[in-house]
Amino acid sequence: MKNTKIVLSSYPLGMPTEENFRIDETEIPNLKDKEFLVKTSYLSVDPFLRMLMNPSDESNAPSRDEGPITDLGQVMAGGNLGKVIQSKNKKYPEGSIVEGMLGWQSYPISNGWVNKRHNPAGVVICNSSLNVPISAFASILGRAGLTAFFCVTRELKPKKNDTVVISAAAGAGGSLAGQIAKKFGSYVVGICGSDAKVEYITKKLGFDIGINYKKDNIDLYSELKKVCPKGVDVHYDNVGGEIMQTITKLHNPGYRYRLVGIISEYNSIPKNKDFWSWPYEKPMFVVHDYTNEYEIGIETLSNWIKNDEIKYHEDIIEGIENTPKAFIGMLNGDNIGKRLIKI
Ligand SMILES: NC(=O)c1ccc[n+]([C@@H]2O[C@H](COP(=O)([O-])OP(=O)(O)OC[C@H]3O[C@@H](n4cnc5c(N)ncnc54)[C@H](OP(=O)(O)O)[C@@H]3O)[C@@H](O)[C@H]2O)c1
Repeated sequence: MKNTKIVLSSYPLGMPTEENFRIDETEIPNLKDKEFLVKTSYLSVDPFLRMLMNPSDESNAPSRDEGPITDLGQVMAGGNLGKVIQSKNKKYPEGSIVEGMLGWQSYPISNGWVNKRHNPAGVVICNSSLNVPISAFASILGRAGLTAFFCVTRELKPKKNDTVVISAAAGAGGSLAGQIAKKFGSYVVGICGSDAKVEYITKKLGFDIGINYKKDNIDLYSELKKVCPKGVDVHYDNVGGEIMQTITKLHNPGYRYRLVGIISEYNSIPKNKDFWSWPYEKPMFVVHDYTNEYEIGIETLSNWIKNDEIKYHEDIIEGIENTPKAFIGMLNGDNIGKRLIKI
């Protein structure tokens, strides 16, 4: 049995390419005291991982604050869901299903270590009594889903007849954020990057309107103005950049805005630029602030799933060797829902 790892082999300039990664195979060492060995079932590819791929120098100091950088030759940081198959740690007995930032590899070893800044929950044991498919713990019940859940229910608190606008609306977080806003009775507009995504969020998820911001010759401001005649009350921002600035022009007095992500900027954090001098809200929403409440979020969301009150889609790619390609594809927008890699 060998551990297959996706390793960072060179730093990307702008959008990563498959050449920035290589596959290594190594022997699995014997476990030390307090360690456990996991057989991976799913890997998660997430936008923020791009920020961890920059060289460790002053130029990326702000993104280093987000967590550990993946240095050259190291296994890529990334979410990992699997089963404990050997254990020298009583807290993680054999047979438990666990989820954590264990990297893009097939047999991670961990001691459940908690990185306070990056992943305060550490490696968590998934509650199998909830009777949901285990992949859900890496998608809707994972950080992407919990981000939408806590940001919408605790911070944005959309009300009946509010106009809510969501960017990256067909992705993992956006697709859930919109459905939760519908549960509150809001009028929900989603912005996303294809007609298929517009169809998905409106026909399958119940958004009121979808706008394909990549349509030829689109004037996003005019489109938005047309579909948001009463302005925008709530803005769930997954992307930053021009889309953020355009929506901002329609904010009503008393609007609620949360910056959740800046995916339009992750490939281009410029050298020596003060990240927070950009036109963004500070501090940004951080799902980790709700770590102590994850259990309640997971239970609520799993009840909503079982009662068919919300839907979710997992965009599953098979094979660890396809992880870099799947990650780059997600950054380019070719996913609907949460992209996972099945191992
Ligand atoms: N603050 C937190 O605690 C936290 C936690 C989790 C995630 N996040 C952030 O939330 C955002 C969404 O994450 P997710 O995991 O749910 O990913 P996702 O939405 O499933 O996938 C990313 C999507 O972003 C869109 N996108 C890519 N480049 C874009 C650009 N230049 N302009 C506009 N849209 C672009 C693409 O969809 P289109 O086809 O629509 O372009 C792509 O499908 C990310 O910014 C992520 O970093 C934040």
